Amino acid sequence: MTVTPAARPEVVTVGDADELGRRAADIVSEFVEAEPRGVLGVATGSSPEPLWAELVRRRRDGLRTDGLTLVALDEYVGLPAGHPESYRTFVRDRVAAPLGVDDDRVVVPDGTSADLLAATRAAEVHERRIADLGGVGLQIVGIGANGHLGFNEPGSPFRSLSRVVELADRTRLDNARYFGGDPRAVPSRAITQGLSTIMSARHVLLVVRGRTKAVALDAALHGPVTESLPASLLQWHPRVTIIADREALGAS
Ligand code: F6R
Repeated sequence: MTVTPAARPEVVTVGDADELGRRAADIVSEFVEAEPRGVLGVATGSSPEPLWAELVRRRRDGLRTDGLTLVALDEYVGLPAGHPESYRTFVRDRVAAPLGVDDDRVVVPDGTSADLLAATRAAEVHERRIADLGGVGLQIVGIGANGHLGFNEPGSPFRSLSRVVELADRTRLDNARYFGGDPRAVPSRAITQGLSTIMSARHVLLVVRGRTKAVALDAALHGPVTESLPASLLQWHPRVTIIADREALGAS
C-alpha cells in the first residue's frame, strides 16, 4: 500500500537559538491573536526554551497571552508534587506564570502517584480534558534523538491516546542532565499524550536544535512513516511547521 502524505511539512531553517525563538514566536503570536482564548500544547525540554523567552519579551511589548489555556504534552510518573523536574512545575513556573496564564488554565497530567492504576487513570483524565477543551489548537513538540514524539517511544502505536509509557533507555540517558547526571534517577515511566492525540491538534509546531537530532529529524522528514520512528507520523499531519537549526538539519 502506498500512502501519500497529506502535505509536506513546512521547514524553516534558522541560524541560531534566538532566530528559532523569533520564528516560533511568530507562529504562536499569530495563533494567540487569532484565538486569544486558544488551547496551546506545551512541550518541555530544552528545544522550545528560546520560544518561551521570546514570548515573554513580546508579552512585555503587549502580546496578550494571558487568555490561553496551556496543555502539557507529558509528565513523569512518580515525582512528588512540586518536584523541580516535574513537568507541572516546569509548565507552571517557566511558561504559564511568565505568560500570565492562571493555574486553573494549566492542564498537566497528574503523575504524582507512582501507582500504575492511578497513573493510568490520570492519563485518561488528561485525554478527556483535552477533548473537553475542544482539542489543541497549536501543539508545540520537540523530537527525541530516538525519534520519540512527546514520550511516545519507538514502537508506540499510531492510534495511541494519552497513556502511561515506559521511557526508553536512550530517553533516560538524555534526560539524566536534569537529574544530577544519573539515568537511573530519571523516572522509568511517564504519562504522555498519545500519537493520535498529538495528530488531532490543528497545527503542530516542531522545534529542533542541535546535531544530536539530525539523524532522527532526517528520518522523520524523509524516511518511511513507521511506528519505529514516531515523529515520522507528522508526515501525515495536514499542518506541520518545523523550525530547526542547521545542525539539526545537517543530515537532510
Ligand atoms: C518534552 C517531550 C520530549 C522532548 C524531546 C526533546 O515534553 O515530550 O519529547 O520534546 O525529548 O527534548 P529536548 O528539547 O530537551 O531535546
